Amino acid sequence: MNLFNVYPLFNINPIKAQGSFLWDDRGEKYLDFYGGHAVISIGHNHPHYQTQLKNQLDKISFYSNSVQNELQTELADKLGKLSGLEDYNLFLCNSGAEANENALKLASFHNGKSKVLYFSGSFHGRTSAAVSVTDNPKIVAPVNYDKRFIKSEWNNIEQLEVVFKNQGSEISSVIIEGIQGVGGIMIPTVEFLTKIKELCEKHDTVFILDEVQSGYGRSGYFFAHQEFGIEADIITTAKGMGNGFPIGGVLIHPKFEASNGLLGTTFGGNHLACVAAIAVLDVMKDENLIENAQKMGEYIENELKDFSHIKSIRRKGLMIGIELDRDCSEVRNSLLYNHHIFTGNSNDKTVLRILPALNIQKEETDQFIDALKTVLEAI
Ligand SMILES: Cc1ncc(COP(=O)(O)O)c(C=O)c1O
Repeated sequence: MNLFNVYPLFNINPIKAQGSFLWDDRGEKYLDFYGGHAVISIGHNHPHYQTQLKNQLDKISFYSNSVQNELQTELADKLGKLSGLEDYNLFLCNSGAEANENALKLASFHNGKSKVLYFSGSFHGRTSAAVSVTDNPKIVAPVNYDKRFIKSEWNNIEQLEVVFKNQGSEISSVIIEGIQGVGGIMIPTVEFLTKIKELCEKHDTVFILDEVQSGYGRSGYFFAHQEFGIEADIITTAKGMGNGFPIGGVLIHPKFEASNGLLGTTFGGNHLACVAAIAVLDVMKDENLIENAQKMGEYIENELKDFSHIKSIRRKGLMIGIELDRDCSEVRNSLLYNHHIFTGNSNDKTVLRILPALNIQKEETDQFIDALKTVLEAI
């Protein structure tokens, strides 16, 4: 059997990883400035993470959600404390798309409405409702198109007001990324988020913050929207939550009532996934990684700001978009093949996306900065 060929692959086969480095099958070493797509939050193979998962394998890996699992309770407790959202409730699932799917469904159960408002440039995942609110016609199949999903322009308050004026009574939820990642590191204005919150309250609409990529300390805050003191009704998370172990979460405001069978999953919240997620939170707290994300992000931006061919830098913490004066693919390839550094791109072809682990060290950032300087100066 062959693999279904949907990914354009780099010709590199990593077989070992440690901290912010990867090694391929030829023994070549690479610096990871992409965190495997914003997933590696505490670095590859962190010793605490490894020990906790290995120990758990000796105990129990999985049982269904029909029995008690005290690891889920411990995870909820620690997540509540570190994020400052102790009064929210947690539903565990397996991925970002699934978290958004559950959030959209929960909103609709809650207010009985069926329309969803989303924004240009958005990416919320590839499953049914999640892809319907994703602004990329290439990945939305005919089965996913529906008039109930309404697109409004990013950061455009006037258009938002018009949509609510005409259809507010039918809009079940608004879904927005804390910071758009796939869209090219687009940061919402505080005025935009505040207006969404106000309109949601006025129209009994649920405000969903997709923090799948921007959450878990990446922005220098636990969740990016917390910088603005905005309260979301539902927050979704995944990626950095398990540092590579598949897990997603839906953080649900206490005003939502749970009932037996309302949401469910076979694998969500299994023992191994919980142990991975707890280890991530422990390391984030013990090693002050949110602070490090703020500090190292600021350092990178300061060092890069006068480089040639950089038009602008959009950044919060270690979620960094470097806008070039050209398509970034050659720069990205040169960083990878000539300097052995992984970086990412985005739907905006000019934007190089930088998402290193939150415990990145100064020497590692200097390696990236020097390499980027060399590549840009050679253009
Ligand atoms: C903001 C955002 N939401 C949702 C998703 C989907 O997450 P997953 O691929 O885990 O389903 C992604 C993935 O890139 C994302 O960036």
